[in-house]
Amino acid sequence: MKLTDNTILITGGGSGIGLALARAFRELGNEVIVSNRSEERLAAARAEGFATYAVDMADPAGIAAMAAQVLSDYPALNGVIQNAGIMQMENLLNGNTQQVQDHTIAVNLLGPMRLNNALIPHLLKQDRAFIMTVSSGLAFLPAAMFPTYSATKAAIHSYTQSLRYQLKNTSIQVMELAPPYVQTTLTGEHQATDPHAMPLDEFINEVMSILKQNPDTREILVERVNFLRTAESKGMNAYYELFNGFNDQMASTRTTSV
Ligand SMILES: NC(=O)c1ccc[n+]([C@@H]2O[C@H](COP(=O)([O-])OP(=O)(O)OC[C@H]3O[C@@H](n4cnc5c(N)ncnc54)[C@H](OP(=O)(O)O)[C@@H]3O)[C@@H](O)[C@H]2O)c1
Repeated sequence: MKLTDNTILITGGGSGIGLALARAFRELGNEVIVSNRSEERLAAARAEGFATYAVDMADPAGIAAMAAQVLSDYPALNGVIQNAGIMQMENLLNGNTQQVQDHTIAVNLLGPMRLNNALIPHLLKQDRAFIMTVSSGLAFLPAAMFPTYSATKAAIHSYTQSLRYQLKNTSIQVMELAPPYVQTTLTGEHQATDPHAMPLDEFINEVMSILKQNPDTREILVERVNFLRTAESKGMNAYYELFNGFNDQMASTRTTSV
C-alpha cells in the first residue's frame, strides 16, 4: 500500500489500537474517518478533528447504512481497517455463554464481513485500495478462557486469505494485522497498564515501520507476536506443549474467575 493520500475508514477508531492507527495514518497525510458505537468515543475523536460515524457492528442494517453514508460523503474512500472488536471471558462449563458467543461472532466476524460486502464494489473502482483486517496472535494459538474470541480471530485469518485470493487481480490489497497482547482497555482497564502487554506506542511504531519497509506485506507481524504466529510450525507435540504452557500461565495469573 501507498502510505499517503488515502481516505481510510477505521472501525473502532475511537480507542486503543484503532485510535493510535488513526493518528499515525493522519500524520502521514491521509484522510481518516472513524466509526464507533459509543457516543463518548465518537465525541472524543471529533474533538481531535476526525470525521466520525456511529455504528453498531453487530447490526447488519446499521453497517449497510453507515457504509452508504460514508461513501456518499467520501467518494474517494480507498481503504478500510476492520479494527472494531470485543473480547470476553467465557466459562464453557456452566452453559451460560450463548449471548457472549452470539455477540462476539456478530461483532468480530460477521461485522467485518458485512462491511467488506458493502465496500468492495466501491473499492474495486478505485485505482488503488486496501482492506486491512485485524486478527490476533490468538488466531494461531487460542486463549482457552476466551474461546469464542479466539475462534473469531482464527476465522478472520482464514477469511482474509480467501478474500486476498479472490481479489488478487484487482486494485484492492488485502492485509492482516495480527497484534500481540497490547496495552489497551480491550478486556478492561487493567490491560492498559499490564506490564506483560506491549506498550501501545511501541506497537504502533513497529506496525508503521513494517508498513514503510514492506508496503506489500500480507501479514503485519511485530516481533512480539511471532511465537504465536509460528506456534504450529514447530510440530504437533511442541504446539500442544506451548498451548498448554501458555494457557496454564494465563489461568494462573488471572484474578477474575471465568
Ligand atoms: N489489545 C490487544 O491486546 C489486542 C490483541 C490482539 C488483537 N486485538 C484486536 O485489536 C482490535 C482493537 O482492539 P483494542 O485493543 O484497541 O481495544 P479497544 O480499545 O477496546 O478497541 C475496540 C474498539 O471496537 C469498538 N467496538 C466494540 N464493539 C463494537 C460494536 N458493537 N460496534 C462498533 N464498534 C465496536 C470499541 O468502541 P465502542 O465500544 O465505542 O464501539 C472500540 O473502539 C480488536 O479487533 C482486538 O480484537 C487487540
